[in-house]
Amino acid sequence: MAFFLMTDPACFDVSYQINPWMRPTAWRPEHRAAALAASASLKAALRAAGAHVETIGAVRGLPDLVFPANAAVVLDGRVLMARFRHPERQGEEAVFRAAFARLKARGLIQEIVDLPEGVLQEGAGDCIWDADRRFFWAGFGPRSSKASVRVIARTFGREVVSLELASDRFYHLDTCFCPLAGGKVLYFPDAFTPKALATLREHIAEADRIEASAEEAAAFCVNAVNLGDKVIMARAPASLRAKLQARGYSLIEIDLDPFILSGGAAYCMTLRLDRTSQPQPAILAAE
Ligand code: ARG
Repeated sequence: MAFFLMTDPACFDVSYQINPWMRPTAWRPEHRAAALAASASLKAALRAAGAHVETIGAVRGLPDLVFPANAAVVLDGRVLMARFRHPERQGEEAVFRAAFARLKARGLIQEIVDLPEGVLQEGAGDCIWDADRRFFWAGFGPRSSKASVRVIARTFGREVVSLELASDRFYHLDTCFCPLAGGKVLYFPDAFTPKALATLREHIAEADRIEASAEEAAAFCVNAVNLGDKVIMARAPASLRAKLQARGYSLIEIDLDPFILSGGAAYCMTLRLDRTSQPQPAILAAE
């Protein structure tokens, strides 16, 4: 069963700017209520799709705690703790560490590992397990450092294919890259350096590539949670709905506008804890 971590959004707001989507002056108090509703809808959608969701409590002064994808890289019960680039988010590290310690005490994860000094890595936001290809894709540049790639490979004993991100708007890999069950990959080409794009295309057959348009990427639809044939995402342009439906996926769209004001959406509001490196059974079967 898919098992996700989410965070209570009670202390979410946009009060600083560490990516170009964040505009503290555009934040209104009424966005908080909308955020609570949006987060609850996402959680309900995950549960309706058969997933289990654990929730971490909110902490005042840490608005971006609502994006647990950035907390760690998790595979085979091993948790590699993140180190954030921006001081605004560094306070989250201790909160997530305590949450993982509680999960470990309950036997829900096995081991908590730290990055070496000086290495920056923003969790599953920049390191995505490809369940079909059975390796990690790691983004680096705007947030995670290039040195994180070797550390991930060493920590998990798995291949890591690294992709340099070229734009401040698509600052985490999960904003522009989303592997889907069955081997297809939804991605936004302009977010990558030419070298990264060549690497990506070397590893993904043309028939498996689904290119997102600038409009679809800006709607944060690439930042999606995939469970079997279901893709849970922010409200999508009709063009994307058509593309994914033509390939056999069904979209579950949620109004995540308050979180898009912070530069995040469905994928980064969650952290999947149950991924294993073992081969997974049937293509497109519900997980
Ligand atoms: N405001 C947050 C930041 O800039 C958003 C993080 C979104 N997370 C993600 N994995 N895309 O850090």
